[in-house]
Amino acid sequence: MSLSGDGDVEIRRARPADLPAIVKSARRALAWTGELDDEALFHWKHYENPFGESPIWIALDRDQVIGVRAFLHWKLRQDTTIVSAVRAVDTATLPGTQRRGVFTRLTLGALPELAAEGVQLVFNTPNARSLPGYLKMDWTEVGRLQARVRIARVRSAFSIMTARQPASRSSIETDVGEPAAAALDERHAVDRLLGSLPDRTDLVTAVDSAVLAWRYGHPQLRYRVMRLGTSIEDGFAIFRLRRRGHAIEAAVCDVLTPESDPVATRRLLRRIARSTEASYLLWLARTRRHGLPIAGPLLTCRRLDGQPVPALGDWGFVLGDIELL
Ligand SMILES: CC(C)(COP(=O)(O)OP(=O)(O)OC[C@H]1O[C@@H](n2cnc3c(N)ncnc32)[C@H](O)[C@@H]1OP(=O)(O)O)[C@@H](O)C(=O)NCCC(=O)NCCS
Repeated sequence: MSLSGDGDVEIRRARPADLPAIVKSARRALAWTGELDDEALFHWKHYENPFGESPIWIALDRDQVIGVRAFLHWKLRQDTTIVSAVRAVDTATLPGTQRRGVFTRLTLGALPELAAEGVQLVFNTPNARSLPGYLKMDWTEVGRLQARVRIARVRSAFSIMTARQPASRSSIETDVGEPAAAALDERHAVDRLLGSLPDRTDLVTAVDSAVLAWRYGHPQLRYRVMRLGTSIEDGFAIFRLRRRGHAIEAAVCDVLTPESDPVATRRLLRRIARSTEASYLLWLARTRRHGLPIAGPLLTCRRLDGQPVPALGDWGFVLGDIELL
């Protein structure tokens, strides 16, 4: 389709009733293949997030949704300071109406409203199509997050060479570990473990048991928890298996061990490598302790409160903080 005329495009905040139309256009522009229940996932992601309901803007042409722009509320913590952030996720302009400024209008129009609502910064890991647009809108390239890989089995070496392509959106079913929803339901024990972690001076997600239960609990995403001991409080890793080329990737989204013990972390990584059919494990970490370093996704940021953009070394993200769903 083509735009009827730039003056006819209406931009407004989305309402829950717009959800089916939003998902329909996102499906076309983002090439969601229908392997997952997109509407249920969109609802979970944007309306059930404990950090808050997502602010979403849409562009309409003759009552048809031609552009979508969603921000996911995300709370960060640095020492004891909370930073109110949003992740710029799910943005799509329908094919046929692209390169006409819809994404730019949706995004730039949202920023003053987000700032007025107390959001201090926007961050994301844009793809090659959206990055040039963000840079034009004054986003800063923070740098590539450091990812680490660990080859799980030597015979996977060939398949790993084919893994230089996007991972599948859906996860491979596995009965290793246990469903994340069940394990993370032990809220008090999870909170006690989180309370034992050393204070961090870098920017990390302000997680508590409710945030973890939401983030990893949706059954369609098939996140699994690998425990270290019998109690969840002894430490655990959250992971999922997905296909990348001919390889099976174990995406290790977070590892939480009492006092962030590196020996316990190594044990959990080894356990995932040995008990799943993964070709390799992938996670984000700045420490040199485990695995081999590889360049991770490019992190970009736009401050809304006039403060400087934190340098790459100031961000302490885990894979689950930036994984696209
Ligand atoms: C990325 C996307 C949302 C951009 O939407 P859009 O409405 O066409 O964007 P705009 O017209 O506002 O473009 C703004 C700038 O972005 C850049 N840009 C947009 N599309 C581009 C492309 N295909 N290649 C290179 N640069 C591009 C250009 O710099 C452009 O400015 P210009 O037209 O003045 O040169 C759209 O291409 C899309 O829906 N892609 C598929 C979904 C996707 O990848 N979403 C992003 C990840 S969630």
